[in-house]
Amino acid sequence: MSENSNNEGSVLGSKSFTAVAINCAAKAGEWITSKLGNYTKLDLKYSSHDLVTEVDKGSERLIRNLIGTHFPHHAFLGEEGVEPGPEASAQALANVSDAEYLWIVDPIDGTTNFVHGFPFFCVSIALAYKGEVIVGVVYDPIKDELFVAEKGKGAYVHGRRMEVSSESKLRDSLIATGLPADHTYALPVNLKGVQAIAPQVRNLRIAGSAALHMAYVAAGRLSGFWEIGLNSWDMAAGYLLIKESGGTVTDTRGETYHLGVRNVAATNGYLHEELLQALEQTEACD
Ligand code: IPD
Ligand code: CA
Ligand code: CA
Repeated sequence: MSENSNNEGSVLGSKSFTAVAINCAAKAGEWITSKLGNYTKLDLKYSSHDLVTEVDKGSERLIRNLIGTHFPHHAFLGEEGVEPGPEASAQALANVSDAEYLWIVDPIDGTTNFVHGFPFFCVSIALAYKGEVIVGVVYDPIKDELFVAEKGKGAYVHGRRMEVSSESKLRDSLIATGLPADHTYALPVNLKGVQAIAPQVRNLRIAGSAALHMAYVAAGRLSGFWEIGLNSWDMAAGYLLIKESGGTVTDTRGETYHLGVRNVAATNGYLHEELLQALEQTEACD
């Protein structure tokens, strides 16, 4: 998809959005892995559980500069350019709500894992056109796995088309969630969900990267994922990956996904209702 393609697929010559997204993710991923185990500056953001390093900031700078070179008139929303906390992220999203083209970037999703050398983190890059995600790229530099989706054109990993898994019951499913850094509101709600869901599923995974978990739902490696208190940059690319792989993404009350959603339920579609109901019954959906 490219600027002159009118979002209908007919490319008229400008640099493809998707090619730029992939290039950014690959370059950032390579740089991030070169810094694994030797970052120099660890800071806290929203809470003592919310970490940031100079590598997060450098990765975002690299991506922003590269996108700016190709598409200087596009808007950019990156995690490290926004003050921590839910109010600031809602405001940051509101500030760019008029943008025709908006890039939404998490320069490292899974910073805690990166800091500890736990090999499960990624770069997440999405492009929205008039508020709708049209390109989504998630790159895991450790496994060198690139997940790519274009609206209406499917989603791919290693060049192979992805499809969500086929489990239709929670009891047969492998579900993932997260433990949010906001321990005042989001974590307690999510823990209620963990308590409710864990006994009902085959097993639960909490591996520390929302974007990569969503890419795994798209690839059929997980049956579903939910989390309370996420931001647009955690989910935008993963949303399109799942949608283009045949799955379902809503908020945890079943409302249609949009960039402002913070509480997400993302599944293969078949067990979506059962997951939503299990969360609702235990007041774990918001
Ligand atoms: C975090 C990760 C984590 C999730 C948190 C996110 P970050 O993003 O996705 O899995 O549980 O809610 O904030 O801070 O590593 O970019
Ligand atoms: Ca994140
Ligand atoms: Ca991040």
